[in-house]
Parts: sequence; C-alpha cells; structure tokens
Amino acid sequence: MSLIISGGTVVTAEGQFQADVRVDGGQIAAVGRGLAQAGDEVIDADGKHILPGGIDVHTHLSMPSMGTVTCDDYYTGQVAAVMGGTTTHLDFCIQPKGSSLKAALDTWHGRARGQAVIDYGFHVAVTDPLPEVLDEIATLPDQGVTSIKLFLAYKDTLQVDDTALFRCLERARDAGVLTLVHAENGDAIEVLMAEAVARGETAPKYHALTRPPELEAEATGRAVALAEVLGAPLYIVHLSCRPALVRVREAQARGARVTAETCTQYFFFTKDDLDRPGFEGAKWVCSPPPREKEDQQALWAAVADGTLSVISTDHCPFRFDSQKTLGRDDFTLIPNGVPGIEERLMVLHQAGVRGGHFSLERFVALTATNPARSFGLGGVKGSVAPGYDADLALWNLARPHMITAATNHSAVDYSLYEGMAVQGRPVTVLIRGQTVMHEGRLLAERGSGQFLHRQRI
Ligand code: URP
Ligand code: ZN
Ligand code: ZN
Repeated sequence: MSLIISGGTVVTAEGQFQADVRVDGGQIAAVGRGLAQAGDEVIDADGKHILPGGIDVHTHLSMPSMGTVTCDDYYTGQVAAVMGGTTTHLDFCIQPKGSSLKAALDTWHGRARGQAVIDYGFHVAVTDPLPEVLDEIATLPDQGVTSIKLFLAYKDTLQVDDTALFRCLERARDAGVLTLVHAENGDAIEVLMAEAVARGETAPKYHALTRPPELEAEATGRAVALAEVLGAPLYIVHLSCRPALVRVREAQARGARVTAETCTQYFFFTKDDLDRPGFEGAKWVCSPPPREKEDQQALWAAVADGTLSVISTDHCPFRFDSQKTLGRDDFTLIPNGVPGIEERLMVLHQAGVRGGHFSLERFVALTATNPARSFGLGGVKGSVAPGYDADLALWNLARPHMITAATNHSAVDYSLYEGMAVQGRPVTVLIRGQTVMHEGRLLAERGSGQFLHRQRI
C-alpha cells in the first residue's frame, strides 16, 4: 500500500505545480496528477503547499561552550525544529583539545542516540590540529562526515592559526571534505575586548562594538585566499555583513570554489538590539554580531542573486534567566549564540517571500535544496521528486501565527522574534513518509530520527 499526498501544490527550487505525491518505502515514488489508487492511504493536501522539509545545516545542540552547555538537547532541539518544518539538521561536533576526531564523534553520537526525532548529521570542528588529527580527516567520509569547521575566532579556546587552516584545507580537499570557516579575526577581537573591559565597557552592546565588520571581512578574505591557493572548497558560515560579502562575491567571480551561508537573525536585527534596556541585549549576543540596516539589505540581495546559497540558523540556545547571566557584569562572559531553529522557516517566509525579497521557489532552494546539495545529501534530501526521501512539509500559506517563546518548543526561555505575526506555517510534516507533526502535535517517536551518512563533496 502506498501513501498518496493528494491535491496540493508541489514547490521545488525550480517551480510549483499541482500534483499528487506517491510515497513508497519512505521515498517519493512519483509526483504527478491522479496518482491515487484503490487501497492507498491518502493525506488530503487540498489548499496546501507541499515543500521539502527544511534542512538546517548549522546548529549547536548539547554543546559545551563558555562554561555552560547549550540548553537544547537532541530531543528538545529537534522537536522545536520539526514544529517549524525542519526535517534534517547538521550539528557541530567539537573536538576537545587532545581528543581524536573519532572520540568526539562518538560523544556526539551518544548524545543523539535514542533522542532524535528528525534526521541529522555532523560536521566536526577541528580545534587541536595535531599531526594524527590531520591524518584522521581522510577517515571522516567513511564515518559519514564530509565537512569540518575551523574557527578563526574565540582565541585560546576554539581558534586555530593559519597553518592549521591551510593544512586542514589541503587534507579536506584531498578527502572530499568541505571546509567550513568561522571568519572573524580572533586575535584583533581579543585586544579590542580587553581594552573595552579595561575602560569599564562591560554591557552587552560592547560585544558588537568589539567585533567590527572589517575583522569579519579580513578573516573571510584570508580564508578565501588560502583555499584558492589550494583549489580547496570553502564554505563561509554565518556571514553577516557587506564587506565579507564582497570578498565572497569577488572570489566567486574568479571561479574559486567558495560558497557561503547567512543566518536568519542577520536579516532581522542590528547591533542596536544589543543595546536594549538593562541586560536584555544579551539575548542577541552571537558571533558575528547583528550588524546594520545596510548589511541586511546587502544580505537580502545576496540570497536573491545567489552569492549566498544557504540560510541556516546557527541555533545555539542559552537561557536568558540562567545562562546569558554569566556575563551580566562582563560582556566577554556572555555565552555566544542565539536560538532560531523553530522560527527560521516561518519568519523567512514572512519577510523573504511575503516581503518580496525572493520567490517561494528560492525560499525552498535556500532552506532545503541548496543545503542538501552543498553538504553531500543531493538526490536524497531537499526536494520533492522521485527517489528523494519523503521528507515533506505541508504548509498552509494563509495560516496566521504569532511567534512567542510561550508556545515554542525549545528549552530556551525567549525568542528573538517575540510577538512577530506571520502568515503561513507548516501544518503537517513527514519524515521518510511517516507523519511526525500535525497541527502542532508531535507524532514522532523519540529515537526515530536517523544519522545521515553523507556523500563526499
Ligand atoms: O555566537 C555563535 N555563533 N555561537 C555559536 C558558535 C559559532 O561560532 O558558530
Ligand atoms: Zn561560528
Ligand atoms: Zn555556529
């Protein structure tokens, strides 16, 4: 017996059209008109738009950071994801210094096992590039991991130097692994932060003021240059500002293998949000920080013209009541990161599609199809077409919804988008043909999410 999703409007990166979707064995078997046969199980999608489930390639669940741990574990973070129409995410596994990459991955697998309700994979962040660790990069694809991340910021904790970056880019290129870079100049930022604190400038807004866009552009340009010398593929994460965008655009024009993402929050907020009354601004402390209105305009243009091919969340949630407060007297101690895994698709649909920045097809490309293709999931996830996993989000594009932490599902106690009214939300979500969410009710079994063994890049 097949499952037929009948009567909806299918939306892909290429177009939208009226069609049924036939699902067999968890995969899409056919997309076309009049597919229902006697005995089929039918989901009526009349009036709905059938989108591929969202793919968020940048999350931090249960991640130790700055003396605490992100407050969403694999269950709460993934429940939040699926409620917002996301069916796959890629999470950052961080190598503790002195550890092997394998041991780090084992730890992250342990965190996800038995908890997952959506499908997931890992990037591994190399923080201690010992010779044996560099050798391990070649073994990652056999473990299903085809991307590494290097931090050029967070001095004395996660930051690596240019030697490490260059060596990792080279090893990754040879292994079919994509190198992701957090591009901010951590050395200069460290000086600016120390000087600010010495002057008594300890409020959250100084987080933004000590991480100027020029230092993101410099690190972006540096990473691009090293990757170009090697002919290595490079992906810039959480790009936030126009000067960094210029470096990426120029590299792409030269034919370099450089792609980049931005994250939802950079379209909606500016550095002024870190200057909200009292300690409120701590909710917006993330790196790079939100920038200026002009940067937002540049980002909207770049996701529309293809310079940026992915919009992810960098979901890195810390509770305001008990975790952000670690930095109440010193902004350098505020855990860096913001939540957004549940809101991403709804707020981007509202501001991006309804706001006239891009089409519904481009929305699908930026939030599902391109992320899958960029990260070794092409042909498996991210589209509504035969042969793909039946990861589908049925949207009611007319349904009003108000974003509020009170009804969100994350363990975090605030939403950056509190009170924002949207029109359009996913009402039914399927993963591999199983209905996992319907009208805000979770139907997935804990542990039903699967680890994704990704293809080489
Ligand atoms: O502030 C941020 N972005 N926290 C998460 C870690 C990272 O740099 O991606
Ligand atoms: Zn980062
Ligand atoms: Zn991140």
